[in-house]
Amino acid sequence: MNPTKRFENKTYGIFRSILLVLALTVCLSGCGKHQKADEKEPAPVSYADRYIDLHLHLDGAVTVEIAKQLEELQNIKLPAADDEELKRLLTVPADCESLNDFLECFNLPLSLMQTPEGLSEAVRLVAENVKSQGVIYAEIRFAPQLHTERGMTQEDAIRAALDGIKKTDLKVNLILCLMRGEGNEALNEETLRLAKKYLVADGGVTAIDIAGAEALYPTSNYREIFAAAKEAGIPFTIHAGEANGAESVRLAIEFGATRIGHGVRIYEDPEVMKLVKEKGVTLEMCPTSNRQTHAIEDMSKYPLIDYMNQGIKVTLNTDDMGIEGITLSDEYHYMEQMFHLTPGQERTLLRNAIDAAFTTEEVKASLRAELGLNYELETWSVK
Ligand code: ADE
Ligand code: ZN
Repeated sequence: MNPTKRFENKTYGIFRSILLVLALTVCLSGCGKHQKADEKEPAPVSYADRYIDLHLHLDGAVTVEIAKQLEELQNIKLPAADDEELKRLLTVPADCESLNDFLECFNLPLSLMQTPEGLSEAVRLVAENVKSQGVIYAEIRFAPQLHTERGMTQEDAIRAALDGIKKTDLKVNLILCLMRGEGNEALNEETLRLAKKYLVADGGVTAIDIAGAEALYPTSNYREIFAAAKEAGIPFTIHAGEANGAESVRLAIEFGATRIGHGVRIYEDPEVMKLVKEKGVTLEMCPTSNRQTHAIEDMSKYPLIDYMNQGIKVTLNTDDMGIEGITLSDEYHYMEQMFHLTPGQERTLLRNAIDAAFTTEEVKASLRAELGLNYELETWSVK
């Protein structure tokens, strides 16, 4: 090629890259959001406008609208005279004192997901709802053993949920929850057997978890079942360090968890904090849930930013958006208002979420590209 042409091409290439980087930087800083309140655009919600939710319980994500649609679909009569009453029944009461109280709120939403069509539609509706709020990738978790009250087997429940994710164009994977409890060992083993059967790298069941009352049924009870999961090559996260302290997280990591549901209480033991950091374990943090279950009593000391500053991989998630009455965008906004979370820190949270997602490297690459988080470009961007 003639040298002048090559120079022109190179100059054009550099110019184009600069423009691209500038455009991405502006977009990632919120596309001109957080401007004066009297401007025409609707009130800003958070710097980020697209999100990843790695910790989202299906039964905890039922809103008034979703409940009414599931009621109509299945000819069920909801125990509420109007929307206001339904909202009250679906959301956590102000006097909730603990995770045990909080878990009482799930009976109503679960009652709407006891048929294949109800469960499939619930998955679709929840996915569509979070998509409309800016979520671009979600891992929806549910416990198949909680959907067998009206004749479905656990396998029917999994198939119904898989059907639901086929009917939405949001990118969704499923996490199957085992349940903490007494007398349900065989049910947990069945969930594990089905997880092995249905496990895929993307586009279906990609991991397992354990949910339920951590303080009543400690993590130490589940050593064998997670050893079997590890042996079978099933990726897993474990709810830990929420109603119990740092020791629960230490055990979950010892079992082989690559992610921890909550983990908010690791500050109680510096050695566990060190372990989480050294092992590169990702925390799925959910501030509103932690406030409502009293995992954290003084929210002014919420440790998310402190953990980030110490090099711990942290993500921001909803947990139970219907029961808590929030969206993921609310959680980002809350962290901005209360803790001055910056656009750069939001990018770190999103990048951590993508890195830790239970999906393929291809999907991760495309999510990073969609959010402008490619490593190469990020080195150019202004923090
Ligand atoms: N199931 C739904 N939300 C939960 C939480 N925060 N902890 C344990 N189990 C749950
Ligand atoms: Zn949870």
